[in-house]
Amino acid sequence: MNLVILKIGGSVITEKGSVSSAKKPEIERISHEIASFKKEADLDLILVHGAGSFGHPQAINWVKEGFDAKGVYLIHSSVNILNSMVLDSLNNAGVNALPVHPLSGSLLEDGRLIELQVEKIKLMLERGIVPVLHGDVVMDRKRGAAILSGDRIVPYLASVMNASQIGAGTDVDGVLDEKGTVIKKITPMSFIDMKKSIQGSGTTDVTGGMLGKVSEFLELAKKGISSRIFNASKKDMVSKFLYGEDVGTLITDK
Ligand SMILES: Nc1ncnc2c1ncn2[C@@H]1O[C@H](COP(=O)(O)OP(=O)(O)OP(=O)(O)O)[C@@H](O)[C@H]1O
Ligand SMILES: [Mg+2]
Repeated sequence: MNLVILKIGGSVITEKGSVSSAKKPEIERISHEIASFKKEADLDLILVHGAGSFGHPQAINWVKEGFDAKGVYLIHSSVNILNSMVLDSLNNAGVNALPVHPLSGSLLEDGRLIELQVEKIKLMLERGIVPVLHGDVVMDRKRGAAILSGDRIVPYLASVMNASQIGAGTDVDGVLDEKGTVIKKITPMSFIDMKKSIQGSGTTDVTGGMLGKVSEFLELAKKGISSRIFNASKKDMVSKFLYGEDVGTLITDK
């Protein structure tokens, strides 16, 4: 069965300029767009959400100085609050969704993702359940603990699970050039010239903002797997992406 992997950015479901501030109406709107799609389409869906203002501001000092147990606890419990809101909203909208917390079952080695709970995720999909992962703090063999971004979870899962449709919804129309126009397609070749117009984030983002996202997705493109970056803050855009429309920026190998 075809597999869709969708990341909803923390910039969409939280106020990234604040601390621990959720945009509940946005979470609900997106849950309903997902619910309508799941009712109609016979596709497997994995959802990943960013940490937004429940993760980036909390993590910033620990990222600089290294994580201790208290830091891991504080960041994870904060992101967990956002994850519960997303899960409640999806289930209330009629989507059978369950959490998969990276801290509980993933492992990093010097920031590189080497283990994720894929078997558990497959079992959920077989039963029509939408697994919901999120950016998190995760134990790391070398660093003790480190941040695992949703932008890295997406290409990892896309590659090991052979996903057919991959997208990241964020708060801008796609990857923009220096004039503010959406770049329709980015390839590893074209990225060389475009790189200078792609920055981090306008707000606190410990995982590289837009440049981090594009870099992660380009690694996936090099394996022959395309993905999209589009605006999930606009009504019906998540729906359009799910139905396979040409939204935002396509990141592809050629
Ligand atoms: N060339 C560019 N095109 C589009 N956005 C850009 C560009 N350069 C920098 N940005 C910034 O990247 C931001 C989106 O990345 P950001 O990491 O903040 O969001 P997110 O990934 O959706 O959130 P989270 O990391 O919490 O999941 C935009 O709001 C914009 O300010
Ligand atoms: Mg980000």
